[in-house]
Amino acid sequence: MAVVAYRGFAGVRLEADVVGAEDDPAVLLLHGAGQTRAVWSSVADALEKAGRRVIALDLRGHGGSEWPDDGRYDFETMVEDLRAVLAQLGSRPMVVASTLGGWIAVAALDRDAALLASGLVLIDTPVNFDAQVMRRVGERMREPASPAPGQAQWDARLFDAFDADSIAARLQGAAPRIALPALYARGAMSELVSTADAAAFVGQLPDGELVEVADASLVVTEDRIDALNGHLIDFLERRAPRGSPEYRAGSDARTFRDALGCFATGVTVVTAMCPDGTPIGLTANSFTSVSLDPPLLLVCIAKGAGSAPYLRGADRFAVNVLQIGQQPTSNRFAGKDEDRFAATPWEVGEFGTPVLSGSLSSFECAREAVHDGGDHFILVGRVLKAIFEPRRDPLLYFRGKYRKLHFA
Ligand SMILES: Cc1cc2nc3c(=O)[nH]c(=O)nc-3n(C[C@H](O)[C@H](O)[C@H](O)COP(=O)(O)O)c2cc1C
Repeated sequence: MAVVAYRGFAGVRLEADVVGAEDDPAVLLLHGAGQTRAVWSSVADALEKAGRRVIALDLRGHGGSEWPDDGRYDFETMVEDLRAVLAQLGSRPMVVASTLGGWIAVAALDRDAALLASGLVLIDTPVNFDAQVMRRVGERMREPASPAPGQAQWDARLFDAFDADSIAARLQGAAPRIALPALYARGAMSELVSTADAAAFVGQLPDGELVEVADASLVVTEDRIDALNGHLIDFLERRAPRGSPEYRAGSDARTFRDALGCFATGVTVVTAMCPDGTPIGLTANSFTSVSLDPPLLLVCIAKGAGSAPYLRGADRFAVNVLQIGQQPTSNRFAGKDEDRFAATPWEVGEFGTPVLSGSLSSFECAREAVHDGGDHFILVGRVLKAIFEPRRDPLLYFRGKYRKLHFA
């Protein structure tokens, strides 16, 4: 087992136990109120044996995760923590969550669900979103932690931040937006969730199933855990089967992107000068050489990118191929916040385009053609001048991560 640290909202450190092979399909386990990741130990064990990679996360303020000085434990911050962790995982996991973790998962997945997760399993999570019931769940955070009484396993400030009304309001109407295979597991003797509430919730999910675990009130912590594991593994095998992922026209875009990501590329920054003399640019790995005579190249630019209208209209543009030391430049020209050119050494090239200093190569181009390409346009450039640095290694990009050349 490995202990792995992820970054949550505003960089807060979130700790997880991880078991299973890296290539196995992932399952992310989120504990409930008044628990830590330790509650999942036998579930994690069973799932690992069933061929899954299992990540059991401590929510902020719980167990080994950071108890932030600023005491930010509002619900939305925890939702952003989960979205941040999901974005850091190499593949989309099945999210399995109980009570408080379940609410966090529902809120985190009511946007972009298919980009972040492959499915959702809720266990014993009150889903009529009645503030009264939710307060009872919150009360659990007051109870002494087991198995080590007296030694706090979660931050007492969590209780003060717990606001049942705002959580209830946040979750109203979320179910129909969770476009994922989903399973709701309810202890048949649960005092927190009635069969009717669970069934009503499942009815609103686009693709939901309900199971009841006999003779159990709270499934995760009960000795009926083997029954729960059986349901979980059955659901995973049916709805998130092991084996090669497959994309077909019309299925989810993330799988298509993952398939395209198997093609290793270099990384470029495409730049141009606006009519008012302001430089613009964005990171692009869709660069391709097109023709030697005449000398042509292309890049594909998302129509929705902020730079798109300028690049489409520019008579001249440059393609700067990045070297291994320019990973920060790549991030800067793909990110939202920074002033991209203020932090990057550059100069105006001979043909008036912004040339990033120290690039592996820079191609100054005249616009030759612009072709439509779905949600992108294909910008073809006629190369006017190319400069290159023969002694640096390229920055590479493969399966969504930066890489470097590795010669055996
Ligand atoms: C490695 C990498 C490759 C990218 N390739 C492209 C690309 O080929 N075309 C594109 O339009 N966006 C691509 N992007 C995304 C843009 O860089 C990103 O959306 C950027 O924020 C757009 O900036 P803008 O909205 O200011 O134009 C890539 C991002 C990364 C990190």
